Amino acid sequence: MSDASKGSVTLTLDGTNRSSSAPLVQASVGPAVADIRKLYADLGIFTFDPGFGMTAACESKITYIDGDQGILLYRGYPIEQLAENSDFTEVSYLLLNGELPNKKQLAQFTQDVTMHTMVHEQIRRFFDGFRRDAHPMAILCGVVGALSAFYHDALDINDPRQREISAFRLIAKVPTIAAMAYKYSVGQPFVYPRNDLNYAENFLYMLNAVPAEDYKVNPILARAMDRILVLHADHEQNASTSTVRLAGSTGANPYACIAAGIAALWGPAHGGANEAVLKMLEEIGSPENIPAFIEKVKDKNSHVKLMGFGHRVYKNFDPRAKIMKETCHEVLAELGIKDEPLLDMAMEMERIALEDEYFVSRKLYPNVDFYSGIILKAMGIPTSMFTVLFAVARTVGWVSQWKEMIEDPAQRIGRPRQVYTGATNRDYTPVEKR
Ligand code: SDX
Repeated sequence: MSDASKGSVTLTLDGTNRSSSAPLVQASVGPAVADIRKLYADLGIFTFDPGFGMTAACESKITYIDGDQGILLYRGYPIEQLAENSDFTEVSYLLLNGELPNKKQLAQFTQDVTMHTMVHEQIRRFFDGFRRDAHPMAILCGVVGALSAFYHDALDINDPRQREISAFRLIAKVPTIAAMAYKYSVGQPFVYPRNDLNYAENFLYMLNAVPAEDYKVNPILARAMDRILVLHADHEQNASTSTVRLAGSTGANPYACIAAGIAALWGPAHGGANEAVLKMLEEIGSPENIPAFIEKVKDKNSHVKLMGFGHRVYKNFDPRAKIMKETCHEVLAELGIKDEPLLDMAMEMERIALEDEYFVSRKLYPNVDFYSGIILKAMGIPTSMFTVLFAVARTVGWVSQWKEMIEDPAQRIGRPRQVYTGATNRDYTPVEKR
């Protein structure tokens, strides 16, 4: 850990003369952290933080979020500038290596990823075991987890070169497997990747091409897809990234770790929200039904959430949601889609929610998932593939965080503690006496 300790926090146990001094470790930007690793030895107590909302589980140099200001930086670069000026391959290099690549580095990285986009031919057989209506996230989770069965040559996580090869393989093959999951669900033949297309173009090509005719990727859709991938690439210690880090801390192979991340991302409270937003908008049906829906959301007993709203960290606008909303308008206009009822509904819902005390007092704003589904639907991506697309983009973030964890000298197996409030020690009683 950085030795930027400056000052400390002292915890004193009431009614005793015992205290523990936790050195403060300063951040380069954002809150400092109190290093409480001596707390149990000093005071015999643990800290309690369900959901780890106030706990720094690691030191990281990859992504910084300021939830109050709505700031998101990838290796110090604002997401707005990267979305406008960069592309997913360059952002992937940045997240993995810490600096923007020069021309030579970018060309080499592009080549390294491109050369790993095909999957072993036997992987096609995995798909025959799934029903055609299997959710593509179930398929992605299963097939990515099985990749380690094909790559015994590079599973030594302590060898930097093998870590690098695994990173290339995962970043390159997840979109191929994702597209195969879609093709399998619609009964079309798998489409091999092409080396003359960039990352976003290749993904759209594998999703949409058919052997019966040539398919030209629409450059507008490719640019929109690339920006969506950039916006979803990393987001510090979110639930799925923390899952990847925890799995990786046991020494599990990178394919198993990323499969664990895919499983965690699938939840509707996390990456599954983009699919849930579309379902919510379609269920509401028309703008006049929005007020009644909002009232249901505000009724705690309904357990209904406004999907695509709220965030554990952002208590202001999610900067990605702003860019996504702008991209939504651009894509619809460029596709000549004059009025998209779902977009009108979403914008009306955002307007109503942002004027409602329930949402304002809880600082609930649109997050990255609120508008993404509308763009993806306009691009012809089926709803069931929305979270898959999120996983395609987030793979480079997961791999970058996994690599950082492995290379962190302070890292050790993750093993949270608990406060036990169950039965204390008692003797067994035979069933006759119960
Ligand atoms: C992602 O962590 C990341 O970085 C994730 C992510 C990434 O890039 O990796 O950004 C991607 O997962 C975005 C979030 C997608 N999820 C959704 O859109 C699902 C809907 N959102 C909620 O489920 C919720 O907002 C969470 C899960 C996102 C956050 O949960 P928290 O942190 O527990 O919410 P909170 O503590 O801020 O809630 C405060 C209050 C609570 O009510 P009270 O107990 O105070 O009365 O706001 C309520 C919550 O019940 N609330 C909502 C709500 N979100 C929070 N009420 C209605 N609708 C919502 N969407």
